[in-house]
Amino acid sequence: MRVGLVGWRGMVGSVLMDRMRESGDFKRIEAVFFTTSQAGQAAPSDSAEPNLLDANDVAALATMDVILTCQGGDYTSAIHPKLRASGWTGYWIDAASSLRMNDDSIIVLDPVNLSVIKDGIANGTRDLIGGNCTVSLMLMAVGGLFNAGMVDWVSAQTYQAASGGGARHMRELLTGMGYLRSVVAEELDNPASAILDIDRKVAETQRSADFPADMFGAPLAGSLIPYIDSQLDNGQSREEWKAQAECNKILRTASMIPVDGTCVRVGALRCHSQALLIKLNADVPMDEINQILADSNPWVDVVPNDKETTMQRLTPVRATGTLDIPVGRLRKTNMGGEYLNAFTVGDQLLWGAAEPLRRALNIVLD
Ligand code: HSE
Repeated sequence: MRVGLVGWRGMVGSVLMDRMRESGDFKRIEAVFFTTSQAGQAAPSDSAEPNLLDANDVAALATMDVILTCQGGDYTSAIHPKLRASGWTGYWIDAASSLRMNDDSIIVLDPVNLSVIKDGIANGTRDLIGGNCTVSLMLMAVGGLFNAGMVDWVSAQTYQAASGGGARHMRELLTGMGYLRSVVAEELDNPASAILDIDRKVAETQRSADFPADMFGAPLAGSLIPYIDSQLDNGQSREEWKAQAECNKILRTASMIPVDGTCVRVGALRCHSQALLIKLNADVPMDEINQILADSNPWVDVVPNDKETTMQRLTPVRATGTLDIPVGRLRKTNMGGEYLNAFTVGDQLLWGAAEPLRRALNIVLD
């Protein structure tokens, strides 16, 4: 199959290329690299063509069996309708959200919804779209409980990393961290300096007009921002709205399972974390819950709910750059035996973005 790759140089695209190389995906395909800005220049060594092709050339794109894009929503909105209008019936695999909620698309997260993907493909669906990172990471962690039909609703409070905004957001966070350290460097070196003086200087710096905040719109280093994506009329942010909409679409639920919470940007680099309160439809024993989670896919790591293990295994520092999905702090809450507490962490660029796409490609190839 000829597979056209678009947006492979950006952050998600680069993670995707690395995973495809590591997994031997390029051996299974004839890869053709497209570009929006450098058509005619030399293509990477994985390419079946010597040169990069123009990503805005609909006729060239239409010669592909599959197009795999991380170019972003504007590109999808501009090109996908033209390509389909030209009669192209290939597979469009996309990281962007533009087509996600269309009736004729599937959200791909095969460790959780392989049967939905296979049914959709058998019934002619050709738009396979990666889910929102937070939703995908939540379902990688606790999808087993959903698929066992045990969940009445979920309250999900998120702690989302800078990478969800993009590469420049990660830089802004790190620049802000360095800036804060630099204004109090002398005091930090002097153990006798007063901590409240340091604190005051830091707060003044964070509030100053020259503190880096262009990308996030508010200072993030040493703080947090309880709003992600655009504002909706119902009081939710768009990120919060996606939780229920996408979760139910991924699982193709017969009736809507409510999912809601507050999405918060924190100073992690590329791992999203989530605190979940899961309303079960029965008082299922903890042993059974742990087993269902552990068996649900090979990447879930059920972390025993003790302090030492949690601190070692249930943090962004542990999960970053890996496909591991640690889920822990598992216990019944004061609300009752049907109310399960959980905390989960996952790499936002891997399972949250790139990995479901390359796996969708492999499903198409199989
Ligand atoms: N919207 C997410 C975030 C990332 O800002 O963290 C993409 O799914």
